[in-house]
Amino acid sequence: MTHPIRKAVIPVAGLGTRMFPASKSIPKEMLTIVDRPIIEWIVDEAREAGIDQFIFITSRNKSAIEDHFDTNLELDQAFARKGNLRLLETLHDRLPAAGSMVFTRQQKPLGLGHAVWCARHVVGGEAFAVLLPDMVMSASPGCLAQMIAVYNERSGNIVATEMVPGSDVQNYGILDLKGSQEQISTIYGMIEKPDLARAPSRAAISGRYVLQPEIFDVLARQRPGAGGEIQLTDALTTLMQSQTFWAYRFEGRVYDCGSKLGYLMANFDMGLKNLEVGDAFRAAVTDMIDREGIDVNVVQSKPTRTFTQ
Ligand code: G1P
Repeated sequence: MTHPIRKAVIPVAGLGTRMFPASKSIPKEMLTIVDRPIIEWIVDEAREAGIDQFIFITSRNKSAIEDHFDTNLELDQAFARKGNLRLLETLHDRLPAAGSMVFTRQQKPLGLGHAVWCARHVVGGEAFAVLLPDMVMSASPGCLAQMIAVYNERSGNIVATEMVPGSDVQNYGILDLKGSQEQISTIYGMIEKPDLARAPSRAAISGRYVLQPEIFDVLARQRPGAGGEIQLTDALTTLMQSQTFWAYRFEGRVYDCGSKLGYLMANFDMGLKNLEVGDAFRAAVTDMIDREGIDVNVVQSKPTRTFTQ
């Protein structure tokens, strides 16, 4: 019988340079997908999976995330004065339970492994989840809920995976599954951001993990790896020598919202599924394609300044 997974570590300390200039003065996790910031999609996925304690690893200039999950007194008063009870209710409904969120800072950008290690005292001695907010999932049930169902049957450590094209392996942790095509398979090794020649497969780590607390002892001794950073993937590889790791090919889609294309596609997918505007959005997009086709020249004829210009 496994201990229920109640705690989730959500690292939000990264700079988000791939989304500059949008993320220059607001955290990339606060960029909007349809009507909610990315971070709220992540918290909702965790909550749906039964998580009731959220541990954010933040850094300087990330206080907007903390504020987002707090009461906004000015807004409350303004809505109350205007009698806008629907908006007031929406704001209150979305507030997390008091005391369910903990924010701790990673003081130096030493890597994802170090960020997760910063949560060691808050997580303590129980198995926990990690959700990387760059990766936004479109799945029902949510990706973490699917993983926890697998964990409850098999225990050990679980890593969500999806297949990526060879040209993308250098952007992700890549799993060695010894050729298995199963939905749940044993992981034999993993390597962080390999070049194509060294990649053991096309199975990428998708930013969701269920981990045993022994990872913290490994992380405490972990030396820098790819990119000169303390990598979670390297610590997992060490822990793999003494514990079982399962790769889980979840049902759904993942969008890498740290990239422009992934972010656009997430908005597109979630926009189509949105109860309020989904139908109108689908009609508008269909109409646009019918009228103009997907004419790249129309887009390219209006260049936008890039950040480096
Ligand atoms: C991190 C992990 C990597 C994983 C990726 C998913 O990399 O280190 O193994 O595949 O997230 O988003 P990052 O994107 O932080 O460089």
